[in-house]
Amino acid sequence: MHPDRNRLRRRLGTTLASLALLTIALVAVGCGGGGGGGDAVSPQVAEGHDLFKKTCATCHGPEAQGMDRLGKNLHKNQFVRGKSDPELIAFLREGRPATHPDNTRGVDMPPKGGNPAITDEELGKIVAYMRSIQ
Ligand code: HEC
Repeated sequence: MHPDRNRLRRRLGTTLASLALLTIALVAVGCGGGGGGGDAVSPQVAEGHDLFKKTCATCHGPEAQGMDRLGKNLHKNQFVRGKSDPELIAFLREGRPATHPDNTRGVDMPPKGGNPAITDEELGKIVAYMRSIQ
């Protein structure tokens, strides 16, 4: 019997198991948040994109690419670029009715994208998402 060797082997086993766990954890962290290999996106922008998909995508498309006769393309968008964050939040709170002089589509952009429960904090995240695609 070699109790010392057994103990050593057991300790080695534990060390290897810890290393394996650490590797899995590191890989998981490395893959998280990037949306599957794209550029790293801040949590604010990622949450904003999720909210956008829930509230705005019906008219603007899930990637904000715009939809025929509905919401406009918000990528490289002059209106978004020309406004400050608080101005954009104020715009989203009000929307833009079809009768508004700036409205070119003849379709309402509803206040808060039609979701009265959305908070200013959430609108701020949506604005962060819109900034990320300019
Ligand atoms: C029911 C459809 C609808 C929903 C939902 C909607 N929009 Fe819109 N949105 C529009 C329409 C239509 C316009 C364009 C109005 C026009 O012709 O000027 C617009 C315009 C905009 C503009 C101004 C773009 C420009 O170039 O003038 C922004 C920014 C915008 N929407 C963001 C959002 C965000 C963010 C949400 C979600 C919170 C949202 N919209 C939800 C229909 C919608």
